[in-house]
Amino acid sequence: MPTPGGFPLNRRDLVVGAGACSALPVLPTSAYPQSTPVGQPVMTEISFGVNGRTRELTLDTRTTLLDALRQHLHLTGTKKGCDHGQCGACTVIVDGHRINSCLTLAVMHPNANITTIEGLGDVDRLHPMQAAFVEHDGFQCGYCTPGQICSSIAMLDEIEAGIPSHVTSDLTGPVEVSGVEIRERMSGNICRCGAYSNIIEAVTEVAGRRA
Ligand code: FES
Ligand code: FES
Repeated sequence: MPTPGGFPLNRRDLVVGAGACSALPVLPTSAYPQSTPVGQPVMTEISFGVNGRTRELTLDTRTTLLDALRQHLHLTGTKKGCDHGQCGACTVIVDGHRINSCLTLAVMHPNANITTIEGLGDVDRLHPMQAAFVEHDGFQCGYCTPGQICSSIAMLDEIEAGIPSHVTSDLTGPVEVSGVEIRERMSGNICRCGAYSNIIEAVTEVAGRRA
């Protein structure tokens, strides 16, 4: 049989070649490339401000901001719900913006100013948003509440700054704080207890006082 290279190829050669190919799947696993073994964690130093205090940590670079706050700084007010960016329980304020702390690495925030629920107020001096949540019963079990409160404070700042949302109808004037706006902007904060209507009342009251 003629081949492109001019070499003779007979029926026997074809059978031998096919046999060699069929043997490939049963080669010992050591014949295949092995995955790189996991080495020692890469540690790095990080410094940021948390609730007005400079904190310095040496962390595995894979540590999320949420785990840095909870496991390393013992600020357990910030909750871990889904750990996948879907519930908002881990919301904290970083340099004025609300973020899901489970979705970001601590080492991505050198010198940032981070505010958690512990930095807003305490039992004797509640932040106005905390007081409004209490007054309007904006929670039941309270697990989502730290995230709801941090998120709603930053959310009102966004409205004051004139940042429109998906439901803002007039993009030329100031953004109004309406139930529709609050629902849309707080849609990343899930409450399994369903305290939504009371949360909206609390946020609306604080927004009214800020106006
Ligand atoms: Fe971060 Fe759910 S724990 S979004
Ligand atoms: Fe229970 Fe929101 S108050 S999950």
